[in-house]
Amino acid sequence: MIQSGPVTPPHITDLPIRALTVDDLHRCADLSEDRGWLREDHKWRLLLAAGTGYGIDAPDGQGLAASCVVTRYGTTHAGPELAAIGMVLVADRFARQGLGRRLMTHVCNDVLKGVPLTLHATPYGRPLYEELGFETTGRAEMLMGTFTHEGTPGTYGTARVRPANAEDLPRILRLDAEIFGTDRTHMITRLPAFADRLVVAEEPSGSELTGYAAAWPNLDTQVIGPLIAQDTATAQSLVTALARGTDRVLRTDVDVRHEELLAWLKDRGLASVAFNTVMTRDIPGLPGDWTRRWAPLTVAAG
Ligand SMILES: CC(C)(COP(=O)(O)OP(=O)(O)OC[C@H]1O[C@@H](n2cnc3c(N)ncnc32)[C@H](O)[C@@H]1OP(=O)(O)O)[C@@H](O)C(=O)NCCC(=O)NCCS
Repeated sequence: MIQSGPVTPPHITDLPIRALTVDDLHRCADLSEDRGWLREDHKWRLLLAAGTGYGIDAPDGQGLAASCVVTRYGTTHAGPELAAIGMVLVADRFARQGLGRRLMTHVCNDVLKGVPLTLHATPYGRPLYEELGFETTGRAEMLMGTFTHEGTPGTYGTARVRPANAEDLPRILRLDAEIFGTDRTHMITRLPAFADRLVVAEEPSGSELTGYAAAWPNLDTQVIGPLIAQDTATAQSLVTALARGTDRVLRTDVDVRHEELLAWLKDRGLASVAFNTVMTRDIPGLPGDWTRRWAPLTVAAG
């Protein structure tokens, strides 16, 4: 005789982890909304296309219970030189039941074992990341507000700032790899389509790029990032050029070591919203040249 009885559902932390694709875009945006974040569809689409999402389906069939996205950089035969983790989210109704730990342990210790890792942590995520071996190696200040226009890009320094064209892309990629410290061609080549505006700064002779920056739409906001510039004046020129093209509220996440730029942005009307902790694992700090790296493309991808 076959005995039948109630089937015990798997414990929540035994639920399978699966790859997320662009087909999961709405489920990812729903999860952001569930956690009180913005839906950020445009950003999710970029991250799911340029990176790899990992998620756990909710046992109640109502979308995703957990997510994160990994963006790999500088991939060699030995694996990526660096991977950035972002969009670590657990649906509110499953919070504090071990799902965040399960997903991050799998991604960091199984999928990305031995790969240098970085992420921007909120205060909620930090204890879990510390438990997984991440260390605090920096801080970024999130600023938002309506930019008060004063001066033109030419007010600051001698750099010539203009919209990027197709011929600039190889130069942007070279400059970016030097300053970011590893190749992120697969992400940067998406910028012309992803961003509303992409501008470059060059020496008056036009021979050398001294910076570049993008502004991309995030719902009602324009995010400035990446912001790559040889000095404060060039960073100010790039921001001024990008801000002139929009009336929307600006957001940018500036490395706190760039005090002069932070003070200038606050003078121009942007206000401090939050601080995120930059954490790394298996690497003492981010590679590249922080003095010329002012703001990430997005805190979710470095
Ligand atoms: C951060 C987050 C992903 C954690 O997921 P979770 O499934 O709730 O976390 P877990 O149950 O696996 O807990 C892991 C550890 O994180 C810490 N933690 C999680 N939620 C916390 C909270 N609300 N307050 C303090 N510590 C918390 C604890 O150290 C916890 O371990 P413990 O329960 O053994 O004490 C989830 O709270 C979340 O989505 N928060 C909003 C989005 C966010 O801030 N994401 C982080 C981006 S960097």
